[in-house]
Amino acid sequence: MISSLYEKYALPKILDCCCSTKPVNYQRNKIVPLAKGKVLEIGIGSGLNMPYYTGSTVEKIIGLDPSEELNEIALKKAKDTKLNIDFILNGAEEISLPNNSIDTVLVTYTLCTIPQVSEALNEMKRVLKDDGMFLFCEHGIAPDKNIVNWQNRINPLWGKLFGGCNINRDIPKIIQQSGLKINKLEQMYLPSTPKIVGYNYWGMATL
Ligand SMILES: C[S@@+](CC[C@H](N)C(=O)[O-])C[C@H]1O[C@@H](n2cnc3c(N)ncnc32)[C@H](O)[C@@H]1O
Repeated sequence: MISSLYEKYALPKILDCCCSTKPVNYQRNKIVPLAKGKVLEIGIGSGLNMPYYTGSTVEKIIGLDPSEELNEIALKKAKDTKLNIDFILNGAEEISLPNNSIDTVLVTYTLCTIPQVSEALNEMKRVLKDDGMFLFCEHGIAPDKNIVNWQNRINPLWGKLFGGCNINRDIPKIIQQSGLKINKLEQMYLPSTPKIVGYNYWGMATL
């Protein structure tokens, strides 16, 4: 009862706030403006990436997310933009779009949370055009053993508090295991961010 009230009323606002710190928004600006054509944003959440799309290169955005509460926030934000944006209320493990129909799949701070992440990546690959781009910006496993130990210790509690988020996923490995080829990968600890959640991976992959 308390946990479902927390997930319905508090969690959406907590996620919206925690995912919009200055260092995180700085990261968004490195990756979102690269999106072009028909874009599928996986786990669009409350729509925090919307200000970083450059309208001229983006023809249409399809924002997918299973959370009704976050979708309500995103819908309100979408009305204040000029973006051509539609929403799909579903998990990425099953994407109701045709094969080979998307120019850019964009995923930010969401591969940490998707429960069946390899199924979801298979779906992203299925809908991506042969010459399409997979753009990612995610937090994940740190390079330092002592930080990893803390990530592993805290992960079970963290997941309960933050909607199933895992702080210890090996993001590049998960992407590579899906069969996507990573062409560009950058990584660092974000400034002013606790190291257990602040190790960021961002870049681009193709089929
Ligand atoms: C930490 S939030 C990040 C939201 C947004 N991508 C951003 O950058 O601010 C994680 C998001 O993953 C979404 N999510 C959870 N399960 C998912 C699934 N199976 N498929 C796609 N998204 C999912 C949540 O609803 C939430 O919006």
